[in-house]
Amino acid sequence: KHTRIFNVNNNQFEQTIEAASQIIKDAGTVAFPTETVYGLGANALDPVAVNKIFRAKGRPADNPLIVHIATKKQLFEIAKNIPTEALDLIDTFWPGPLTIILNRRRCVPNITTGGLDTVAVRMPSNRIAIELIKRANTPIAAPSANISGRPSPTNAQHVIADMEGKIDAIIDGGSVEIGIESTVLDLTSIKPTILRPGEIGIADLKEHMKDIVIGYTDNQTDRADKVKSPGMKYTHYSPKAKLILIESKSNDRSISQEIEKLYSEMNDCGIKIGLLLTEENAKFILDGKMPEYIFSLGKKNEPEQAARNLFMGLRHLDNHDVDIIIVDGQIKNEGIGIAVMNRMKKAANEHILV
Ligand code: TXA
Ligand code: MG
Repeated sequence: KHTRIFNVNNNQFEQTIEAASQIIKDAGTVAFPTETVYGLGANALDPVAVNKIFRAKGRPADNPLIVHIATKKQLFEIAKNIPTEALDLIDTFWPGPLTIILNRRRCVPNITTGGLDTVAVRMPSNRIAIELIKRANTPIAAPSANISGRPSPTNAQHVIADMEGKIDAIIDGGSVEIGIESTVLDLTSIKPTILRPGEIGIADLKEHMKDIVIGYTDNQTDRADKVKSPGMKYTHYSPKAKLILIESKSNDRSISQEIEKLYSEMNDCGIKIGLLLTEENAKFILDGKMPEYIFSLGKKNEPEQAARNLFMGLRHLDNHDVDIIIVDGQIKNEGIGIAVMNRMKKAANEHILV
C-alpha cells in the first residue's frame, strides 16, 4: 500500500487538511500529530475504518481506542449519562491531554470500544488534529501510531518507521509538545479512577474532585483478571533492546557511579550498550569520555524534558541496534515526572534500586 506523506507548512495547511479529511471520510487511515504523541486515526463511527487501525498496529481486538473530538457537541453524540463533574473537568482541561471514560452511546461501534459499554474521549489541543476532526466532520478514533507494544511515536519519522505501507497517509507536523500519552480518567466507576498517568497529574485533578483513586500500577503488565483498562495487560513501550532501569531511593543520591559500573562491566563483555541518561548523571560517568550510544533525557529536575526525550531516545538507541539500554531513572517524581517514571518502569525488563 502506498502511504501519502503530507508536509504541513502554512500555505499548504488548508489543502493538507482537506485531502486528509477526505481519506477519513472514505474509511481510510491517517496518522496525525496531537500534543501528546502521534495518533493513527480513522472514522470512529465506522467499523470498517476502525478495523484498519487494528490491522495496521497489530493491536489486540479487546484493547479499546480513544475517540478524539473537536467540539462539545460531538461529546454528547457519543457519550451519555455524563456526570456534572466531567463537565467541570472538560471546561478546565479541554482541549488538552486528558482522556475521560464515559458511558457510550450506541452509535459508537463495538470494535471502537473493544466491546465495552464505555468510551474513552479526548479533545486534543493540536491545531492539525482539531482541524482534521472538524473537516472530516466525525469523531476520530486514534491510538498511538506505533506498532502495538513499541514506544509511542513523537515525530513523523517514528510513524513512517512503523506504519509506512500499512496506512493511507501521515501528516508530518514536526515533533510533539509533550511526548507521552494523555492521562486516562475513568468516570464510570464508583470513584473517579486514574487508569494511566499523564501530564495532567493527580494533584491537578484533585483540585476538581476529591476521592480520586489510582487504578494503574507500574508493572510491565497487570494481571488480566484485575485490569480496569484492557490496555494494562499488554506489554508496552518496548524497544527491541533489553531495558535496564536504574533508580535511586532518594533524589539527592546520585546513581552515576552505579551506572558507570554497570556500563563498564557489560562493555567489557562486548555487549553493545545504549545509555539514556539525565544531564547530571551523564556528566559524571565514564571519566568524561562519552560513549557512542548515548541519548539525553534532559535535566533530572525538569521532567517535562524527560517526557519529550524518553520515547525518542528509546527509538534512537534501537536504531543503532544496541543489545541493552541502561535507563537513568533519577527523574523528579512530581507532576509529569510521575508519568515518565510509569512509562520507564513499564518498559523495563530489569530494575536496579540503589
Ligand atoms: O495521548 C493519547 O492518549 C494518544 C493520542 C493519540 O491521543 N492516544 C493513545 O491511545 O495513547 P492508546 O490507544 O495508545 O491508549 C489508550 C488507552 C489504552 O490503554 C486503552 O486500553 C485505554 O486507553 N482505553 C480506551 N478505551 C477505554 C475504555 N473504554 N475503558 C478503559 N480503558 C480504555
Ligand atoms: Mg498506545
